[in-house]
Amino acid sequence: MQFLTVTFVHALLVASALALPSSTGEHLAKRADSFQRPSQPVQLVKSPAGDSHGVAASNWAGVVLNSASGTYTFATGTFKVPTPSEPQNSWGTHAASAWVGIDGYDCASAVLQAGVALTVAAPSLTTYTAWYQWYPYTAVPVYDVPVHANDVVRLSVNATSPSAGVVTIENLTTGKSAQHDVAGPELCQKSAEWVVEQYAVWGVPAPLADFHTVAFTDATASGTNGTVAGPADDAAVVVNLVQNGKVVTKVMAGNDTVEIDYVNAN
Ligand SMILES: *[C@@H]1O[C@H](CO)[C@@H](O)[C@H](O)[C@H]1NC(C)=O
Ligand SMILES: *[C@@H]1O[C@H](CO)[C@@H](O)[C@H](O)[C@H]1NC(C)=O
Ligand SMILES: *[C@@H]1O[C@H](CO)[C@@H](O)[C@H](O)[C@H]1NC(C)=O
Ligand SMILES: *[C@@H]1O[C@H](CO)[C@@H](O)[C@H](O)[C@H]1NC(C)=O
Repeated sequence: MQFLTVTFVHALLVASALALPSSTGEHLAKRADSFQRPSQPVQLVKSPAGDSHGVAASNWAGVVLNSASGTYTFATGTFKVPTPSEPQNSWGTHAASAWVGIDGYDCASAVLQAGVALTVAAPSLTTYTAWYQWYPYTAVPVYDVPVHANDVVRLSVNATSPSAGVVTIENLTTGKSAQHDVAGPELCQKSAEWVVEQYAVWGVPAPLADFHTVAFTDATASGTNGTVAGPADDAAVVVNLVQNGKVVTKVMAGNDTVEIDYVNAN
């Protein structure tokens, strides 16, 4: 399995290689200037010796439904935004991003995602930003849906065709929501996933914040034939985040729930 590592510059190269109108390129550049937090497909690594928790990755943890090409068109999940903190005995800016997506697991060409990025720069200096992304294009912030700790947010991605879709970010407290049309290189529609990611800022992974718990409820995915599947489906793969040879997450899958806990490995 080989995945593209995409930085802002690469994203622009991809955009020009695909011969998008230059205004689109400029638009991407503007977006990238304001929000440089591209999310990435899973980067699988060898599980640490003695670990039997499932599959290990260097950049994210969660549950993946993994099936044949063309299976998934829709994925959704609802979670209460946690307050991130700096891990014990660790200082400086830390980050994590919770998202729902299609094709983050085994599709080289594209990933469709909606998420909330969390950063903590000091105990009382936290930021929360909703975003969506059609990888390999960069993430787009959704400032019209402000997010705070303890908000209940529903994230949904809907691939209306392999190369276009709609993302919806909703505040279930007020009913305020944002819906955006998205398009990009063809999806494989092979996987649907609920994830917490350690994301990179300008290509450099920001240290992982202690995100405590991201507990997705109403976590379901469906396909072109309307089949609804959940995280306890036969196709489910549990992925844990491994840093310095240690598993730093605990992931639990239920019928329509995915709980991802931060575990301090220090
Ligand atoms: C949801 O609404 C609450 C109450 O007005 C507000 O504090 C919060 O910022 C909103 N969150 C989102 C995600 O819009
Ligand atoms: C996805 O979008 C299509 C087109 O707008 C719509 O018909 C369909 O109901 C949506 N799917 C879900 C699960 O919301
Ligand atoms: C359609 O549903 C069946 C199970 O009912 C499932 O095995 C198959 O993968 C689904 N196909 C698509 C394209 O969703
Ligand atoms: C999950 O779904 C199965 C099959 O529908 C059901 O038997 C089981 O009780 C459900 N478990 C939970 C925790 O809801």
